[in-house]
Amino acid sequence: MAHILAIGIATLDVINSVKVYPAEDDEIRAVSQRLCRGGNATNSLTVLSQLEHQCYWAGVLADEANVCRIETDLKNHQINTAAVLKLTEGKVPTSYITHNLSNGSRTIVHFRDLPEYPFNEFQKIDLSQFDWLHFEGRNVVATRQMLVWAKQQAPNLPCSVEIEKQRDDIEVLFELADVVFFSKAFAQAQGHTNAPSLLNAQQAQCGNAKLTCTWGESGAWALDGKQVLHSPAFPPSQLIDTLGAGDTFNAGIIDALVRGQGLGTALHFACRLAGQKCGQQGLDGLRMDAIYPKRFKIRC
Ligand code: ADP
Ligand code: FRU
Repeated sequence: MAHILAIGIATLDVINSVKVYPAEDDEIRAVSQRLCRGGNATNSLTVLSQLEHQCYWAGVLADEANVCRIETDLKNHQINTAAVLKLTEGKVPTSYITHNLSNGSRTIVHFRDLPEYPFNEFQKIDLSQFDWLHFEGRNVVATRQMLVWAKQQAPNLPCSVEIEKQRDDIEVLFELADVVFFSKAFAQAQGHTNAPSLLNAQQAQCGNAKLTCTWGESGAWALDGKQVLHSPAFPPSQLIDTLGAGDTFNAGIIDALVRGQGLGTALHFACRLAGQKCGQQGLDGLRMDAIYPKRFKIRC
């Protein structure tokens, strides 16, 4: 078991499942609705928790009615929330998600008015207890300060950063991380039409970091030094729900690397895990033993 801290968001996800995706200005009826906790960092932690790691979350919540659902879910996944900053004003970040039952796609409209997790809160955390830190690349200035601080306080503590969206100056984070997770959306926003093109273009800015880039049903690519690695996707027998597939992939990479595996093995494992997630609703009950009977032993 490794001790893993993730810094990022927890959200309330309002998920409407529809038979087919509506056209603009349509009015349609949802087949079903469910409310659950979401958010990239906490999604990855719930998967890591199932992979038998001790997980910790640092993020911001608002003290309002919906916070209960989020806190209960984190508690049910044994995620430690001691570093959470709870504000008296504001609303928990909320995502309104249209889940298309015909192809598993998820279309997200996200609303937030809470500030991001601040550097001065991060400075209060004792980093010596962790084996891995994972950041969402959101507030670039504060995330950079946290990465620099982490490298000063705990130089051997591996740090990963998820780069999901284009944000001003986000490149300053790349060289401070040991692993950078790029998304297809980020690659496309940079004008790339495939993952290797993005990875090769970013390498110069990333120091010695290991890089990955997911590409939906085409699987994922990684760059370790000069070596480009690819894993195909592992489509489930029935495509149910792709919400959180990228967060599951990130958890799979972190799990394999923290267990001392190479990037090629990690990539393959993460795609299998993400593929399994696409065959079910939500992130609970991922059966790793069913697809990976002999998982790698932990080395930390
Ligand atoms: P995100 O959830 O961030 O949009 P992606 O859609 O790129 O992320 O998916 C992340 C990973 O999930 C992919 O690299 C792939 O391994 C897996 N995945 C996504 N969509 C599918 C699919 N339709 N079938 C099988 N695996 C998938
Ligand atoms: C899925 C997800 C949702 C959340 C949204 C935030 O990756 O984390 O759970 O609402 O993305 O951007």
